[in-house]
Amino acid sequence: MHRYSWVLAALGSVSPAVVSASPLAPRTPRYVSHPDRLDGVKEAFQRSWDGYYEYAFPNDSLKPISKSYENDRNGWGASAVDAISTALIMGKDDVVDQIVDHIKTVNFNRTVAGAEGVSLFETTIRYLGGLVSAYDFLTGPFEGQVDKESVQTILDQAVNLADLLSVAFNTPSGVPINSLIFNGPNGPVTAGDTTNGICYNRHVDLEWTRLSDITGNGKYANLTRKGEDYLLHVKNPDVGEPYPGLIGTDVNVKDGTFANSRGGWNGGTDSFYEYLIKMYLYDSERFGVFKERWIAAIDSTIKYLTSHPSSRPELTFLAAYNGAGKDKLNFVSSHRKFLHTHRCKY
Ligand SMILES: *[C@@H]1O[C@H](CO)[C@@H](O)[C@H](O)[C@H]1NC(C)=O
Ligand SMILES: *[C@@H]1O[C@H](CO)[C@@H](O)[C@H](O)[C@H]1NC(C)=O
Ligand SMILES: *[C@@H]1O[C@H](CO)[C@@H](O)[C@H](O)[C@H]1NC(C)=O
Repeated sequence: MHRYSWVLAALGSVSPAVVSASPLAPRTPRYVSHPDRLDGVKEAFQRSWDGYYEYAFPNDSLKPISKSYENDRNGWGASAVDAISTALIMGKDDVVDQIVDHIKTVNFNRTVAGAEGVSLFETTIRYLGGLVSAYDFLTGPFEGQVDKESVQTILDQAVNLADLLSVAFNTPSGVPINSLIFNGPNGPVTAGDTTNGICYNRHVDLEWTRLSDITGNGKYANLTRKGEDYLLHVKNPDVGEPYPGLIGTDVNVKDGTFANSRGGWNGGTDSFYEYLIKMYLYDSERFGVFKERWIAAIDSTIKYLTSHPSSRPELTFLAAYNGAGKDKLNFVSSHRKFLHTHRCKY
């Protein structure tokens, strides 16, 4: 899942040999252990956790300067739920226990006052992803670390949360609406958005598919499949697919057509492409078409979007675009992070 790759990257354990290997040879990543760096990263995690636990837990976020907290992700303890997979990997057993105890108490049906707006995307990557990866770890490599009843509660919470979020997909096209309002008399409702960014639309596939595979209930995967089909098979390519495999940014929830031709590898669009290859790696049989689309996107990127500053010809930048053709290129580049946090923000 998406957390593992950045943890490995953060630990600095990816050998430079990977980078210098022949481009034609099949690459097997080789990991070199750096115990000193590893300890440094674990210490940084513990320090952050301690500050959060003392001044903010079980609220969402620590405000480190004022030593206070805020609920910017609906008040379900976002930092805690998001951190459980990291705590497991780092062997922070006390932290794992604190988070598991917290998860058992969360009521996802209600948001705290002043934090009613729920983002399908943010909730999926932080809460649902946190719960599903915790369940995977605690039934896999860390089986037995937490009692079975608690592990089941983690999954039950994931299912309840996904059921609550499912209203997002209740649109004429199946393209989800990202903004939801909880706490209504009849449960969650969607806000009035008419379009959805491809990043928001797409970034939820892996977590929802995994939840279906764990529970054996296909409805979660099926919900995301409908919306993503419009991105894999663009209905109005003259607008929505300016280069083969490279698509626009916003999709109309009414009919799944694209609303614009702007895109690239920046915030708001990049994770669409990232999830193409991730879904293929997750299950190459079911998601073969995702690989096809990934290759098309990469080929077009190399062909149409690359440029090299005259003063630094060894560097390669990727342009953004608003339509096809040289005059539609926009030579901007934004920070690409390993950490998934905020990647969808414009
Ligand atoms: C936030 O923390 C305060 C102080 O510890 C606590 O009273 C409150 O219940 C917490 N709120 C949530 C939503 O966790
Ligand atoms: C909480 O949400 C779930 C899932 O939508 C629903 O089945 C359940 O009735 C809700 N519980 C309460 C107390 O509202
Ligand atoms: C999910 O979709 C598949 C393929 O269309 C279908 O066979 C299956 O019954 C669906 N499952 C649910 C729970 O909707």
